[in-house]
Amino acid sequence: MKPVPGHIGIIMDGNGRWASQRGKPRILGHRMGARAVRRTTEACVRLGLEQLTLYAFSTENWRRPRHEVDFLMRLFVRFLRGEKKRLINNGVRLQTIGRTRELPPRVQDELARTVEATREGCKMTLCLALNYGGRSELVDACRALVRRAGEGHLSAYEIDEALIAGHLYQPDMPPLDLIIRTGGEMRLSNFLLWQAAYAEFYPIPACWPDFDESHLNAAIAAFAKRERRFGAVPKASRIAG
Ligand code: FPP
Repeated sequence: MKPVPGHIGIIMDGNGRWASQRGKPRILGHRMGARAVRRTTEACVRLGLEQLTLYAFSTENWRRPRHEVDFLMRLFVRFLRGEKKRLINNGVRLQTIGRTRELPPRVQDELARTVEATREGCKMTLCLALNYGGRSELVDACRALVRRAGEGHLSAYEIDEALIAGHLYQPDMPPLDLIIRTGGEMRLSNFLLWQAAYAEFYPIPACWPDFDESHLNAAIAAFAKRERRFGAVPKASRIAG
């Protein structure tokens, strides 16, 4: 049996470049990116993944031109409205991570409606990272812990990895196995910094709007060949003594 990742995170990069290469406005890349989100979600359900986490909007993405940010917000709302039924039919539960309370109210409302409508989905969790930053997530976890300490419910000696993990945006998130980044860059760009500690990284040159099942299968095949040691010695050395 080949090891299959249970939880894949994807840094969906290259929408703008995909459009520019075709002489089109960047927003067309995002629109085609939304189609790739649907395709990939359905492919991951077919593969039996437990969770797919997509980096949809980072805490840094507010620095983009106003019209692009506005377009992305409208696209998220349209996507959620259009996909709700398919998510339910495919047994997909929607979750979010990030400072979602800072998103425009219409995005927050649609997210809340979709999370509620899909909450019985038990085949796969689709987690959208929206206004998400790995550093902000750790800042927010620290704030929650300091609040508890201030109320007298926590001392410094009780803080350990499990407690910090329990104060992240989704405390029950399954371990992250594989991070795929499209668009050819080799950075984490503030994505799931805590959870990435022992995840495998798989960058691919293809831009996100072109991402399809063949790229996903190639990433999973590469993952199956990796030896995950979690800090221990290689298996061969263990046998040799
Ligand atoms: C990065 O590409 C992509 C984003 C910042 C936005 C991701 C959004 C989508 C894929 C749209 C659909 C998403 C959902 C959840 C419906 P980039 O624009 O930075 O590409 P570039 O590096 O080529 O400029």
